[in-house]
Amino acid sequence: MTSDDAGATAPAGCPVVDVDHHDPAFHERRREAWAELRRCPVAFNERYGGFWMVSGHEEVEAVSRDAETFSSAHLREPVDGVTYLGIAGIPRGRAIPTAGIAEVEGPVHLALRRVINTRLVPNAVGRMRPTMEAAARWFLDQHVESGEIDLVLEYASPVPAVMTMELVGLPVDDWASYSALFHATVAHRPGEPEFDAAVGNIPEMLGRLGEAVAERRAAPRDDLLSDLLALEVDGRRLGDDEVRSVLWNLVGGGLDTTTSLTSLSLLHLARHPDLRRHLAEDPRLMTSATEEYLRYFSVNETLTRTVTADVELGGQQLRRGDHLMISWLSANLDERVFEVPDEVVLDRAPNPHLAFGSGPHRCIGMHMARTMFQVLVREVLDRIPDYRVDEARTRPYSGNPELNGLVRMPTTFTPGPRLGPSARPF
Ligand code: HEM
Repeated sequence: MTSDDAGATAPAGCPVVDVDHHDPAFHERRREAWAELRRCPVAFNERYGGFWMVSGHEEVEAVSRDAETFSSAHLREPVDGVTYLGIAGIPRGRAIPTAGIAEVEGPVHLALRRVINTRLVPNAVGRMRPTMEAAARWFLDQHVESGEIDLVLEYASPVPAVMTMELVGLPVDDWASYSALFHATVAHRPGEPEFDAAVGNIPEMLGRLGEAVAERRAAPRDDLLSDLLALEVDGRRLGDDEVRSVLWNLVGGGLDTTTSLTSLSLLHLARHPDLRRHLAEDPRLMTSATEEYLRYFSVNETLTRTVTADVELGGQQLRRGDHLMISWLSANLDERVFEVPDEVVLDRAPNPHLAFGSGPHRCIGMHMARTMFQVLVREVLDRIPDYRVDEARTRPYSGNPELNGLVRMPTTFTPGPRLGPSARPF
């Protein structure tokens, strides 16, 4: 793709950048690339139909706090043959439904958040912790005697998947299908066999979600799915498709994000034995270390918004209908806010990172994500403290501009004993 394919040209006098965020070369040097972009924190890119790239911490936060002016709704027609999420070249397969709560605004958004939040506030997440610990122990138990595990596919992916099934009230036995599907759609690019096969499975998964919705309508239980079905907004219940779309968003949000944060952090700890030792020896570091790895990796790297009214941002004049890509990753590496932003400082304080976003769309699963991360990392540090990653067989995502993570991470360690029951505890 070249800028010749673009629809819009830059407004007169505004800074123009020429960056293709879909190019694998951009991904390989994205920290440097965003550092260059931050020299002008709001700049226009003529590619992909034309859009603003917002890279400074202050500007990204301003956009995410003002949901009225910067809408998350999907307002753009397809450009260059791909249906994009929001704007700016984040590809979304045609079969993937709209992103539930993330693209809804106004009273419906508020009502959805209120209902979902009751099951994701810190107290509620605290009640999930024993199940998280039991699940982490069980998945590690399956490999601990052999001395080999894939820490992505056999550990950091299954535990969030099981917990998300439990949270929503979906059949827990389905965890592996959801985990495989969401992992493949974010870890691979359209056109790669793994991506195409996963997209091919979406209709069947949507069918299964539809069955769960119908079952719960007939017989409500104490779970989030039943809460959503009982919700009334402006005197109206949500339709089956709306509920499915919210569930899809929750499951998608809950799975590979936490997996990526955990696996990238475990890889980083393996490469930095001094940090691994500090974290293992001083459990008090875990809280600040969680925030620091959230900041450093910002696994949800970018999102998009559409301008609903003329507005000035970072010294630039934006017009109604303009599209923006906001980079949480770049905001979290902004040298105007963070000292040594490219280093992991386990006890960094303060740490005003935006890894979960900010404002009305701020990540609703953030407490659950933090707790899962801590449980998963603690279990590894306690039980297989000498783990060694086989880096030759470890693969990063193949260039997804929205999410970062690892496809797989084969790992070896000194074998140890099983600790839990042989029966599955979830
Ligand atoms: C490391 C883990 C995670 C990261 C880095 C992360 C990051 C984010 C970010 C950046 C946003 C967008 C905020 C915005 O647009 O302003 C978001 C929204 C969201 N996240 Fe997460 N997330 C994580 C885990 C989770 C989990 C575990 C769940 C579910 C249990 C979840 C569910 C959602 C949902 C439903 C939204 C949409 C909220 C809304 O639009 O109101 N996320 N997340």
